[in-house]
Amino acid sequence: MSKFSNVSVEQLITPTERKDALKVRIAVFVDEQKYSMESELDSYDDVSEHWAAYCDETNEDGSIRKHVPVGTIRLIPQPQHVAKLGRLAVLSSARGLYIGQKLVKSFIQHCKDNGFHSIVLHSQYPRRGFYAKLGFVIEEGDEIFDEDGTPHIRMWLRNI
Ligand SMILES: CC(C)(COP(=O)(O)OP(=O)(O)OC[C@H]1O[C@@H](n2cnc3c(N)ncnc32)[C@H](O)[C@@H]1OP(=O)(O)O)[C@@H](O)C(=O)NCCC(=O)NCCS
Repeated sequence: MSKFSNVSVEQLITPTERKDALKVRIAVFVDEQKYSMESELDSYDDVSEHWAAYCDETNEDGSIRKHVPVGTIRLIPQPQHVAKLGRLAVLSSARGLYIGQKLVKSFIQHCKDNGFHSIVLHSQYPRRGFYAKLGFVIEEGDEIFDEDGTPHIRMWLRNI
């Protein structure tokens, strides 16, 4: 049996709900990837929409923790009906289970339902294959750039 089951993606509205996203972001971007807390907690959170992926987690002794936050994603609205996808993260213990893909698919559906025409993101360069599998492309002329000390590349999903 999988350690993680019953995956759901939920939008986070209240400050208390949004703490679940921050827990995952700090574990992944600050503790694991060593970005600074200052760059992680940027000024865009208040103008963004946030989601978390939740699972039931079965422990080795068979006990189950319900509704554990294991992933997150955020949307920063841009001009001209563009949505910027960012802060996508899945806890290392829950990777490879299509939770990241489920978060992005929910994000795309939300954008379609809410009048966005295109989605843009800055991918960590080594992660670009993950987004390519979901249809995102690097456009001609776009080059690798530094963001918070690591190489990134812009990717687009246009005319969703
Ligand atoms: C990137 C990340 C969100 C992927 O989440 P995940 O839940 O482990 O990925 P999924 O299980 O949904 O993977 C879906 C598919 O993408 C592939 N994939 C996953 N990570 C990949 C990567 N870095 N490069 C290329 N392909 C990748 C998987 O193999 C799978 O492919 P398949 O359909 O052929 O089996 C996760 O690894 C993560 O949180 N990493 C650390 C934070 C991070 O780097 N965020 C992105 C910043 S741009």
